[in-house]
Amino acid sequence: MAGFDDPAFYGDCWAGVYDEHHAEMDPAPAVEFLAGLAGDRRVLELAIGTGRVALPLAGRGIAVEGIDASEAMVERLRAKPGGESIPVVIGDMAQVPAPGPFGLVYLVFNTLFGLLSQARQAECFRNVARVLSPGGVFVIECFVPDLTRFDRGQRVQARAVTEDAAVLELSRHDAAQQRITTQIVTLDGQGANLRPVAIRYSWPSELDLLAQQASLRLRERYSGWDRQPFDSSSSGHVSVYQR
Ligand SMILES: C[S@@+](CC[C@H](N)C(=O)[O-])C[C@H]1O[C@@H](n2cnc3c(N)ncnc32)[C@H](O)[C@@H]1O
Repeated sequence: MAGFDDPAFYGDCWAGVYDEHHAEMDPAPAVEFLAGLAGDRRVLELAIGTGRVALPLAGRGIAVEGIDASEAMVERLRAKPGGESIPVVIGDMAQVPAPGPFGLVYLVFNTLFGLLSQARQAECFRNVARVLSPGGVFVIECFVPDLTRFDRGQRVQARAVTEDAAVLELSRHDAAQQRITTQIVTLDGQGANLRPVAIRYSWPSELDLLAQQASLRLRERYSGWDRQPFDSSSSGHVSVYQR
């Protein structure tokens, strides 16, 4: 593997354990929100992964398609009931290699930040705008950076400790690059297992500017899928950009 700059790297590292690690995340509020926007229009999920959100959305009769860079993640999607009938293009979400037009494109769970430079994120906004129908919307879910999590550019967290295993999260923060590099390390009887994650975070105002440069305007912003107001106490946001 080529490492963090390979679009397939994250998915190929995580596919074997992704669903088990994220079993506690309920997709229902996101599905409700997205279904309300989709209506009867074509919908595209960037970074569809194992179908955590796309499968229940398709289960509501919505015509969902997907893009993902990792064959391994998409194999997990295809192995699930209904997974075979969701069209998926294997490719780079920054390039949006799917023929539009779509009435709704969405990119959830902070995954825009998996594009590791401002230029790559800007490219993604531009290509989403290209495949949106007039009036179509782009929905993103991202965290708001909280740099107080880091002590002199690093953070160590014990995620889980049991009789026979420990899961540690080890991170470095590069403020100049707006980049956080993390290893989630499982220590157990088999030894150490490493799961790497790299992200390049953006502030909400920066995202709005990238969107504006792509001819998208911020239509709505909430602190979460339940449409609670977004304010200075919000740790994340769901933002709806319109073409
Ligand atoms: C955190 S998972 C999210 C999956 C799914 N959207 C969800 O909410 O469960 C990130 C996904 O993004 C995909 N991915 C990361 N970088 C990508 C890129 N540049 N182009 C396409 N897919 C990418 C990974 O393969 C993985 O499936």
